[in-house]
This record gives sequence, structure tokens and C-alpha cells, in this order.
Amino acid sequence: MEAAPSLYVNGGATIAGAATVPGDKSLSHRVLMFAAIADGRTEVRGLSTCRDVGRTLSALEAMGVAVQTVARSPEVDAEDKPSPAAAPLLRIEGRGPRGLAGPAVAVDCGDSGTTLRLLAGLLAGQDRTFVLFGSEALRARPMQRIVTPLRAMGADVAATDGRAPVVGAGGGLRGADILLEKASAQVGSAVLLGALNADGQSSVRYPSAVRDHTERMLADMDAPLRWSPRSSVLHGPVAGLAPPGDGHYHVPSDPSGAAFLWVAAAISPGGEVHTPGICLNPGRDGILEILRAMGAVVAIDDWRVAHGEPVADVTVRHAPLRATRVAGTLIPRAIDELPLLAVLGAFATGRTVLADAAELRAKESDRIEAIVAGLGRMGAHIEARRDGFVVDGPTPLIGAKLAGHGDHRIVMSLAVASLAAAGETVISDGNRPADSFPGFVETLRGLGAEIRRA
Ligand code: S3P
Repeated sequence: MEAAPSLYVNGGATIAGAATVPGDKSLSHRVLMFAAIADGRTEVRGLSTCRDVGRTLSALEAMGVAVQTVARSPEVDAEDKPSPAAAPLLRIEGRGPRGLAGPAVAVDCGDSGTTLRLLAGLLAGQDRTFVLFGSEALRARPMQRIVTPLRAMGADVAATDGRAPVVGAGGGLRGADILLEKASAQVGSAVLLGALNADGQSSVRYPSAVRDHTERMLADMDAPLRWSPRSSVLHGPVAGLAPPGDGHYHVPSDPSGAAFLWVAAAISPGGEVHTPGICLNPGRDGILEILRAMGAVVAIDDWRVAHGEPVADVTVRHAPLRATRVAGTLIPRAIDELPLLAVLGAFATGRTVLADAAELRAKESDRIEAIVAGLGRMGAHIEARRDGFVVDGPTPLIGAKLAGHGDHRIVMSLAVASLAAAGETVISDGNRPADSFPGFVETLRGLGAEIRRA
């Protein structure tokens, strides 16, 4: 058997230039699911080609949804070279809000928690039985959080000791008022997807604001929905749904992917990175607030609105960094970027603290332990806490041999730290970035980094 590749990173290069980041992963999952239950055809441009979104696409195809690859994006054709952001133009034939009814289906969600959790809500309202399963890593993650609210809506769904596989028989849902304990967009989205086919009014209340992509996309599709940052109300069952983006949806670039480039520039003396067309949903912009609080120069230009989502061009420039404390309502707004806070903390003057973020232990790995172990091996003064970490900086980081913990965001965060470390760093699980950021290595190389997969 071939050994899994590692990432080899040489520290010291200045990170500078412009980069187009792949389409947003959260929006890509959603636009596929919503296009599948719209009335009519949707053409989707800029969909993320990452592995996790591929799971959602295959699942929908297995349920009979017709998806046709029409062409490469014109931006890519014109360049005449493979671009990291290369994304096909897809044509999806919507089957209507109840159009996923059919024979029993078993869906392999791989490592993708978003695929499993959102599909659980979607399928709870479709007339078909289903089994949602995944990798060993996915089986380790909590699933009762979707089962409990869906059961409160009358769904016949169950998890196995609170974990995948999640099995169910769809249909017969009734509206319910759901008060979520955790600020989770995935859980809220699962409820709203079920609510589309439930009888009567459903509501979701979040303990603090989360990414509201589902709400924005449903509003764009003329669904009977009202929402504010912490609560959403939907009247079901919906009779019909307009195709997202009026049938032409362009997925903006992923802020959670761009964040690796922003932090790479922020810790690189002389560094500066420009990333156009980033989705700046208010539930996703926490990392920019953190970068600013730590002293990095952040410029946001050319704000526009695309299919109800705020989009802008973002430039981040290096400056001396100072420590910060991140906690409370900022946590869900930066949830996927918090390992990068540890990296920033290692280069900042003073004590950087993360608190209220125990949820990080339930991601693709225990991200608190994983990032603390990796940066610790590089010489950072960092300690894990129950709900976060403490980093005393700055400390010069030294290249080391590191474990990627099978987690794309840990592999990429450690790669970013390695760019500003002395000497060479080797990180295992070098294929993992493709879970969410296809072309990560090539994109960094385009910005001057010395990084390769081997
Ligand atoms: C996501 C929501 C977040 C995030 C995940 C994607 C989404 O998860 O960490 O990467 O697309 O809704 P939680 O809702 O579990 O916090």
C-alpha cells in the first residue's frame, strides 16, 4: 500500500500576492441540496470541488437527482491552466420540495459532518427510509444533537448511541419550536430543512448568532421564512421553492479557506495577501475581527450582495501582532478558524486566550489537543484548557515532525505556522487539505511559500 503523503514546508519565505480561493464549502453543500428540492433548473458556478461537498453531490445523485457538468468556469478556460479554484458549471434539475421520495437509500457521508447533519433534516421530510453513515472519524462525532430536535418534530430518526449511523423513515413531520443548546448552524439548518415539509409553524432559537446561509438561501428561494440573528421561523409545508439565485447561482469564495492565507500573511514579515470575492456572512467574519484586534492590517473593499450573501474583496497585511482574548459570541463566528488563533498567538506579544470553545473538541479531531500538541512541538508556549487554550508569545517556532490528526484544518493551520518557522516542518495527512480547500498547496506556492506534498 502506498504511504499517505505528508506536507513538507520550509519556513522563512515572504507570503505575498493575490489568490482566488475555492467556492465556499457551507454554501456549496446547501446550494446542491436546495437546488435538488427547487422547482426547476439551477445552474451553479464556482461550487467547491472539495471532498466533503463531493459527498453531498454523490448522495443527491444516488437519490435520483440529475446533475450535469456543463463546462469549466469561463474564468478558468480563459486562464488555460488548472487553477486551484477550478470549478465546473453544474446544471441541477430540481425535483420539488418532496422530490427526494423513493426507495430506501444508504448514504456514505465520508468525513463530512455537514453532509450527514443536513441530509438528516432534509430526508426526515421525504417519503423514503434512509441510513446515513460515514468514516470512523465521523462516527466519533455527536449526532444526538440533530436527532433530538427532529424527533421533537415527530420524525422517525435514531442514532446509534448518539453517533452515526443515523437511520430514519421520512415523512409525517409537524412544526415545533426548537430551542438549541448549542450555537450550531448545522443543527438549525437540519431543523429548517425538515420544517419545509412539516405541518405548521417551526421555529429555531440559537443561544448566539451563527452563520445564516440556510436562512438567506431559503429567503432567496421565496420560502415562507422570517429570521433574525438568533431565531428563524418557517411555515410548512411549502408548496414550492424557486431555484436558488433565480436559477443561476454563483458560489462566492470560502472565508474559512481564505483565513489560512490571511494568517500566513499576517505572521510573515512583509506579508500581504489579496483575496477577491469572499463570502462575508456575519456568522463567518470573526477571524477578521480577531486579526484586527491583534494588529494586522485588514482592508475590505467592494462590498456587494450576491444571492442575499454579503461578498467583498479582502486584503490582509502583516504588522506587529499583540495578544487577544476570544470568547463568548465571537466563538461561533470564528469556529472553524480557531486553530489559527493559536498560530497567531504564537507570533503575538502577550497572552492570547481562547475560552468558551469546548465545541472544538467535537470537530474532525479534538482541535484543542491537536493544535496545542503541534505548536507545542514547534516550541510555542501553549497550554490546553477544558474550553480553549492559552498561548504566551512571541516564541520563535522551529520546524518539526508533526501529526495532522486526519483533520484538514489542523494540517493547514500547522502548515501556516511552519511557513514562519525556522527550517523544515513535515506534517502527516498531506492529502487532508482537499477535504475543504482543493489546491491549498498550489495556492500557497503561488504566494511564495516553499511547500510540497510528497
Ligand atoms: C457548518 C457549521 C459549523 C462549522 C462547519 C460547517 C455549516 O458547524 O464548524 O464546518 O456549514 O453549517 P456547527 O454548526 O456544528 O458549529
